[in-house]
Amino acid sequence: MSAPQKTYPAAPTDRIFSGVQPTGNLHLGNYLGAIRNWVRLQHDFESIYCLVDMHAITQFQDPDDLRANVREATAGLLAAGIDPKKSIVFNQSQVPAHAELAWILNCVARMGWLNRMTQFKDKAGKNREGASVGLFVYPNLMAADILLYRSTHVPVGDDQKQHLELARDIAQKFNGDYGVDFFPLPEPVINAEAARIMSLRDGTAKMSKSDLSDATRINLTDDADTIAKKIRKARTDPDALPSEVAGLADRVEARNLLTIYGALQDKTLEEVCAEFGGSTFADFKKALTEVAVGHLGPITAEMTRLTDDTTYVDSVLKDGALRARDLAAPILRDVHDIVGFLQPWGN
Ligand code: TYM
Repeated sequence: MSAPQKTYPAAPTDRIFSGVQPTGNLHLGNYLGAIRNWVRLQHDFESIYCLVDMHAITQFQDPDDLRANVREATAGLLAAGIDPKKSIVFNQSQVPAHAELAWILNCVARMGWLNRMTQFKDKAGKNREGASVGLFVYPNLMAADILLYRSTHVPVGDDQKQHLELARDIAQKFNGDYGVDFFPLPEPVINAEAARIMSLRDGTAKMSKSDLSDATRINLTDDADTIAKKIRKARTDPDALPSEVAGLADRVEARNLLTIYGALQDKTLEEVCAEFGGSTFADFKKALTEVAVGHLGPITAEMTRLTDDTTYVDSVLKDGALRARDLAAPILRDVHDIVGFLQPWGN
């Protein structure tokens, strides 16, 4: 006869986890697709926001750059309005339980599932044999990040949807294999109005930190002149702006610029089309520059100030890591118990 089923504490009902890679400048896509949502959601959810330095090293990072980028990205989150007293802000490597749970989840996830991940294919490119093993199992670490806190909601941009579906599959398989109802299936929270901000130079490519051309993105560190120049040079088409969204079909660059304007102003695409229908791109770009500089300028100034205050930034990360460790420890203990690891505290 098998032993009676143990019971574990109920999972939280409204806990957020999300992360950003500290591999370069935070850009407008990160801000509109994710970080701004984090700022808003922290008032309604218990929120955990992570600088995922362990994900970053799946592709080589210069150690000094990595340290600087973690601090700068932290400064960016704080400058954007994340309150480190309300939310937990930390860098992943300060909480070793992420790596420990990732190992267990490596043993739950199937090769076939990971083989389908489009981000691995994009990042590894043609040289798959030369990609790190870490890059291949990256989505398992991401599942561990989320499940380590039994998180229920994950605010991300559209490009992370497939990884989140995998996290749900892993949670479900773990629960099924071990006959428990332990991990909640995390829900993606995607802001439809800015789910995928595109490159300023190519409306079919995502705005990305890894694009070799800096002209493709607006960085949170860019000053007003740089923003103005990048918007002026942004690719468009020869027609005037449409007064209805239907007029944006097949006009990917126009749609992207109007989407950015709308997201910065909290307006729908319909409202932006109604406002600028018939305008030239030259006029619209002036308005967009004004709005972008007005919105991002104060964030950039505060980010620069905080980036120089490494003592403060490091203290935020340390405090966040200690709080994250406290949340993670009992959950990892329960996971050890579920999978049958003998532990000194007794099972
Ligand atoms: P990362 O660092 O690529 O991006 C951080 C967040 O920004 C969003 N994002 C965008 N949104 C709209 N338009 C864009 N062009 C754009 N570019 C980036 C991303 O969707 C993301 O929400 N694997 C993750 C980091 C991660 C994570 C996690 C996220 C690690 N563990 C656990 C959530 C939960 C990544 O590389 O994000």
